[in-house]
Amino acid sequence: ADDDLVLSVIGCGYLGAVHAASMVALGHTVVGIDVDRAKITGLGRARPPLYEPRLAELLSDGLGSGRLRFTTDPAAAHGATVHFLCVGTPQQPGGAAADLRHLDAAVTALLPYLKPGDLVVGKSTVPVGTAARLRARIRSVEPAAELAWNPEFLREGHAVADTLAPDRIVYGVPGGPAGIAAADLLNRIYAKAVADGTPVISTDYATAELTKAAANAFLATKISFINAMADLCDATGGDVVRLADALGHDRRIGRQFLGAGLGFGGGCLPKDIRAFLARAEELGAGASLAFLREVDAINLHRRARLVELALAACGGAPAGKRIAVLGAAFKPGSDDIRDSPALEVAERLASVGADVVITDPRALDRVVETRPHLAVACTLDEAIGGAELILLLTEWPEYVELDPVALREVVDRAVIIDGRNALDPARWRAAGWSYRALGRGGS
Ligand code: UDX
Repeated sequence: ADDDLVLSVIGCGYLGAVHAASMVALGHTVVGIDVDRAKITGLGRARPPLYEPRLAELLSDGLGSGRLRFTTDPAAAHGATVHFLCVGTPQQPGGAAADLRHLDAAVTALLPYLKPGDLVVGKSTVPVGTAARLRARIRSVEPAAELAWNPEFLREGHAVADTLAPDRIVYGVPGGPAGIAAADLLNRIYAKAVADGTPVISTDYATAELTKAAANAFLATKISFINAMADLCDATGGDVVRLADALGHDRRIGRQFLGAGLGFGGGCLPKDIRAFLARAEELGAGASLAFLREVDAINLHRRARLVELALAACGGAPAGKRIAVLGAAFKPGSDDIRDSPALEVAERLASVGADVVITDPRALDRVVETRPHLAVACTLDEAIGGAELILLLTEWPEYVELDPVALREVVDRAVIIDGRNALDPARWRAAGWSYRALGRGGS
């Protein structure tokens, strides 16, 4: 089409790889730039840094079309007019705030290649105030370049779909004609979603940055809220799954993100709520977000509660007991083990002497790479054979669909702890299992 643009994507990790491949699918020409040579080599062979449905296919289509390439050379940005900043903003080592080192380095690398009329678009999750600071840096070198902040809300496992057909598009732009021009250019990039009626919110930098932080804080709060209710269910004999169903029918509340259990992990929610709180404290507004400390504490306490349940199921003597852990990824549909609640529980049980064996349909390679001291089993049968206790910690469909009758034949003791409230307790009990969970007081 006439309206196809040449884009650079700086930072080709999870977000950047998805963004680059998706922009090519929208008809644009993209160069992906990253300092990590191994990553660039892999992407050039259509190998994504993390498993994500459709991503390998989009990469290979893009590379085949000649409209997508990857390089470690920042000078490649010179041929593009729009530059997406997609680098990671991890938690600072030993702190709570976001580490902006990679973001600042990406801007430093880009600056010599900016031309008048170029638009730099930030997508990384950043502390509010970052966009204004980066705009000043950019314009001190190229006064005729502009900056927009365009946060992403993608979920792992749905990242391509979330990029191509998002729930909403948010632009933070400066006031006046420059901001209108930046928003128009972004509308051209996302022309397909815009034409499909996706709501576009064009606003100031701070609101755009806050939208991302607030969305993650809200989602984390929703999960910790239902997990707090799970504790009340345990104290009273209630059932948190039925409670969540009943609450979820209220359209003002909704059923999503009311999945009680082991709580949230992953590369985003935990670090993002901590960084948000740290930034609020810097701004003198820490008291307003103090509740996020509680949200974090409730969430981390889930892991301790699951360990307690497991120890109790071992009669308080875990040493040498064979425990099969089903799931290592932080959520199903992903091979990501960053801040995985499942792995933390497995680690803690192994550290008190239990004979823990972990299995997972996708994440085992990463477990072996990063935690060589933990035992893994490639198949479910191998993991549960002879187990005295089974922990379901990541609700992969293949685990949720297990047949309790058949499974009973291969275990030594039919005891299961459902860390994700993903199984039907009545069905498992009817098959002779001792079924336990968090928030199903009856159990
Ligand atoms: C999240 C946000 O959803 C996304 O918008 C943002 O861009 C990045 O962070 P993601 O980390 O991929 O995405 O995972 P998500 O599906 O949100 O799940 C996060 C964690 O919460 C997982 O560990 C999941 O198991 C847990 N979770 C989710 C629950 O414990 N209960 C729920 O009801 C939902």
